[in-house]
Amino acid sequence: VFADSGISAVAQLRLVNGPSRCAGRVEVLHNQQWGTVCDDNWDLTEARVVCRELGCGTALSAPRGSRFGQGTGHIWLHEVNCTGTEAALSECRARPWGEHNCNHVEDAGVVCSGKPHLFCHSGPSRCAGRVEVIHKQQWGTVCDDGWNITDAGVVCRQLGCGTALSAPGGARFGQGSGPIWLDEVNCAGTEAALSECRAKPWGDHNCHHREDASVVCSGSGISEVAQLRLVNGPSRCAGRVEVLHHQLWGTVCDDSWDLIDAGIVCKQLGCGIALSAPGAGRFGRGSDPIWLDDVQCTGTEIGLSECRARPWGNNNCHHGEDAGVICTDSGNSEVIQLRLVNSSSRCAGRVEVFHNKKWGTVCNDSWDLKDAGVVCRQLGCGTALSTPTGAHFGQGSDHIWLGNVNCTGTEAALSQCRARPWGDSNCTHEEDAGVVCSANLPEPVTSPTAVTGDRVLPKFLSYTAHEFLCPVSQLPCSTSEVAAYQRWGVSP
Ligand SMILES: *[C@@H]1O[C@H](CO)[C@@H](O)[C@H](O)[C@H]1NC(C)=O
Ligand SMILES: *[C@@H]1O[C@H](CO)[C@@H](O)[C@H](O)[C@H]1NC(C)=O
Ligand SMILES: *[C@@H]1O[C@H](CO)[C@@H](O)[C@H](O)[C@H]1NC(C)=O
Ligand SMILES: *[C@@H]1O[C@H](CO)[C@@H](O)[C@H](O)[C@H]1NC(C)=O
Ligand SMILES: *[C@@H]1O[C@H](CO)[C@@H](O)[C@H](O)[C@H]1NC(C)=O
Repeated sequence: VFADSGISAVAQLRLVNGPSRCAGRVEVLHNQQWGTVCDDNWDLTEARVVCRELGCGTALSAPRGSRFGQGTGHIWLHEVNCTGTEAALSECRARPWGEHNCNHVEDAGVVCSGKPHLFCHSGPSRCAGRVEVIHKQQWGTVCDDGWNITDAGVVCRQLGCGTALSAPGGARFGQGSGPIWLDEVNCAGTEAALSECRAKPWGDHNCHHREDASVVCSGSGISEVAQLRLVNGPSRCAGRVEVLHHQLWGTVCDDSWDLIDAGIVCKQLGCGIALSAPGAGRFGRGSDPIWLDDVQCTGTEIGLSECRARPWGNNNCHHGEDAGVICTDSGNSEVIQLRLVNSSSRCAGRVEVFHNKKWGTVCNDSWDLKDAGVVCRQLGCGTALSTPTGAHFGQGSDHIWLGNVNCTGTEAALSQCRARPWGDSNCTHEEDAGVVCSANLPEPVTSPTAVTGDRVLPKFLSYTAHEFLCPVSQLPCSTSEVAAYQRWGVSP
């Protein structure tokens, strides 16, 4: 087990009352008693130190105002002020222990990515190459001792690159430099991330860079688009543009931002076409990083990350210039035309389409990742991770609306893909197609499944807001977000 798995002997710091050990209310141990941290001056810089100290990857957000509930007892730290380079929260400047004018309403929280960074280096695409992981802010390689296709499969899935085609060793894609972080990796194959696999402790190896491990995944990475969201607007289809890169949400600068660029955003989110492309922080100022500047789409791209722009993070902007988008659709009409049912997430399930005022299913003949990718994009659910067939998410009833679906992968909606005429399939419901998209809600740990009529509510609906993170905000779901999911779950 990696040191990164949380056993890391850090008895001084913990995150409580969150959905995982890598998100929650910050608590520190002092004088053998746990206490909280006041949120004055609390932001991503401090959160980053916490995530690093806990081996939880990068900081996604630094929620204030007791988003993860109010602690009891001591408030140990106040006016914490980190530079961002500290190895532990206790190394940051702060008032003396226990000296504060706060109350628990102001308890600070952190949401970490929970995973170390990972990427493919020097390969022909972002889905093939030398495996590199980041640990202690330094990229390093993986030794090929014991490296096989099971391990490679975990890497491919984590990267959103499909399945593993091969697991070359012997520095097939060139030798790395710097640390060799992992040796004797031994995944069971079911892990969501390489960091969950068994391996020697970080940096403990008997290898040389001649033995660097690589992967070749089935996905090309070409159709993979960065995750995207619109925040602080009236619906999920209008707001400030934010993109996810290196597991961190950041904004887009409005320099040369226009309707063509905004149109790509609307298309990617399944929100119709662009009505306007407001700049100048019209939907409020985001927080760092500013990921994209001088964006110049041609209009044919399937995702914003495919448009020409300066390199990630390279910009001459400030957040007063944050770009926004207003799309034609409210974000609800898509849900009426297409939905994924019978899973705990609106971004995974049996595919159902609305036609002639009736919901029906899609046959799995020739159903593949390209088709599924269109579904995920149309729903604003990121990219397709898998295409479970054979009624994996249960059998529908009534109509089987589509068969022989054959998308090229660039369509904005499933209804634009080639397929047999509506209702003209030769299938049974045993062949109902499913999708799992990358923007998947975390599975709640325990919860009764609520059944209303013949419809199974997503399990998380019986959960209180702070028990899972909303994929859109990466924060505990607000009441209105829960209500939105509820609508999706029980529609029509
Ligand atoms: C990969 O290696 C592990 C451990 O050595 C082994 O259990 C597993 O079966 C291997 N996978 C394949 C596909 O050979
Ligand atoms: C579709 O589902 C059926 C029934 O489970 C299965 O036999 C078939 O292989 C599936 N087709 C594809 C293309 O996966
Ligand atoms: C949901 O899926 C399960 C199998 O995963 C199935 O037993 C159940 O009948 C399905 N329910 C609905 C409403 O489709
Ligand atoms: C999908 O369409 C392409 C042409 O657009 C064709 O070459 C291919 O054979 C089709 N695939 C299936 C499974 O029908
Ligand atoms: C539909 O399936 C039946 C039985 O499997 C077969 O006889 C028939 O030719 C099929 N029709 C089409 C259009 O594929």
